[in-house]
Amino acid sequence: MLHSLQSRLDRLAPAGQPSGPLDNAARTEAAGLRVLVVGLGYVGLPLLALLHEAGFSVVGFDIDAGKCEALKRGENYLPHLGADLARGFVGSSRFEAVASEEGLRRLAGSGRSFDVAIICVPTPLGPHNEPDLQFVHRTGEMLGRVGVAGTLVILESTSFPGTTRHELLPALQRTSSTPLVVGQNVLIAFSPEREDPGRRDYSIRTTPKLVGGLDDASTRAAVAVYRRAIEQVVAVSSAEVAEASKVFENVFRCVNIALVNELKTIMDAMGINVWEVIEAASTKPFGFMPFYPGPGLGGHCIPIDPFYLTWKAKEFKVPARFIEIAGEVNNAMPHYVIHKVTSALNDRMKATHGSRVLVLGLAYKPDIADTRESPSYELIELLMDLGAHVDYSDPFVPYTKPVRKYSLDLRSVTLTPENVAGYDCVLISTNHSAFDYAMLASHARLVVDTRNAMKPFAQAMGDRLVRA
Ligand SMILES: NC(=O)c1ccc[n+]([C@@H]2O[C@H](COP(=O)([O-])OP(=O)(O)OC[C@H]3O[C@@H](n4cnc5c(N)ncnc54)[C@H](O)[C@@H]3O)[C@@H](O)[C@H]2O)c1
Repeated sequence: MLHSLQSRLDRLAPAGQPSGPLDNAARTEAAGLRVLVVGLGYVGLPLLALLHEAGFSVVGFDIDAGKCEALKRGENYLPHLGADLARGFVGSSRFEAVASEEGLRRLAGSGRSFDVAIICVPTPLGPHNEPDLQFVHRTGEMLGRVGVAGTLVILESTSFPGTTRHELLPALQRTSSTPLVVGQNVLIAFSPEREDPGRRDYSIRTTPKLVGGLDDASTRAAVAVYRRAIEQVVAVSSAEVAEASKVFENVFRCVNIALVNELKTIMDAMGINVWEVIEAASTKPFGFMPFYPGPGLGGHCIPIDPFYLTWKAKEFKVPARFIEIAGEVNNAMPHYVIHKVTSALNDRMKATHGSRVLVLGLAYKPDIADTRESPSYELIELLMDLGAHVDYSDPFVPYTKPVRKYSLDLRSVTLTPENVAGYDCVLISTNHSAFDYAMLASHARLVVDTRNAMKPFAQAMGDRLVRA
């Protein structure tokens, strides 16, 4: 059974192979393989579209039935991926979307529900910053029940090294009616996603993809699937190496952002513009890589993934000091920013209590709608705790929805010269390119800027501009 899947995967041609008889044969082979993507969010949805474009028969599975219905109508619910992303699904005989285990079972007909399953479900933190693998466990148990003998299962969700072998495999085994043995009747691999929402210079197709299996046969099979859709696929020796590489990539960013955030506070105390320092240091053509300060960490990865590693390191009694310290520095950033706001108001004889503050940007990074772990929430809450009247403006987020730690009930205000002039302070948390910074420079009474967005107007604004 497994041998048949392996031979079919071996016949797939890599991405970018010139079309010709060989590619036509590979296309037919791909169309005959049913790839299930579980979890159709920031990671799963673009992957589903890419695999469909590469010629596979795809099944999207999400417990959010609304997402499945939207895709069937050809509608994309993640605007940064472009309105056209889901159009190709409409009328395609190679696309299905299901929202329940029953629906998945029904697909089996006389064969299997899927040949390859790729898991892209959330891996958040619990209330005490501990890994929360409930979505991975539940998905593994569901796939086990539906039947994974003879298939390839790939985990893409970020987690600590050992998750694929010691968490996913047992979950599949718990519910499978056939005893599962890797390499004998099932193949299992880990392949981290390197999605960076909003990035234009690299896409999912052009970003090299790491793959590590629980055994060599699993690695080979997973490489065959991805190389049909992605330009460069890099095989590593194990799932653990692939898992650790992903966490390392995010720890690397987290630690360097913390370093530059700390540098910001030191430079500020010395009266030196940290942004100019970074620009100057960046002229060194080797041995330096710029990172930029900000109001705190946001997004699904950098504030979360490093703690998966620190948690796991404790099991091995190895301290992860660097990562813990980076977490402390980054977590302190919203407080530092609020301190800058309150001092700037104080300098203008204003108490924060009763002041009107407008926070610009609720999304955690420019030009996308993703608000997960956004430091803007904490900034708003801290200001409210101090008694300020707080509004926000974000063209991508018309109203606030409850997120992991916050439940605000606010609507985005439109930026006009009149309403900008009505606030005691405008706090730039996220530098969306749609904001009219020239207008802000002319009309805001005070701008506290965490992103260097007001650089072109710094001279003209004088002490109406404060960097934080
Ligand atoms: N967002 C990123 O930029 C990014 C980058 C790299 C890696 N990752 C990792 O990828 C994984 C997924 O992240 P995401 O950003 O796509 O999350 P997301 O929240 O955008 O999407 C997850 C989807 O999974 C669905 N879901 C939840 N439980 C499910 C279940 N049991 N069965 C089926 N569907 C289920 C949700 O409804 C949602 O649509 C996480 O481990 C994350 O750390 C994310």
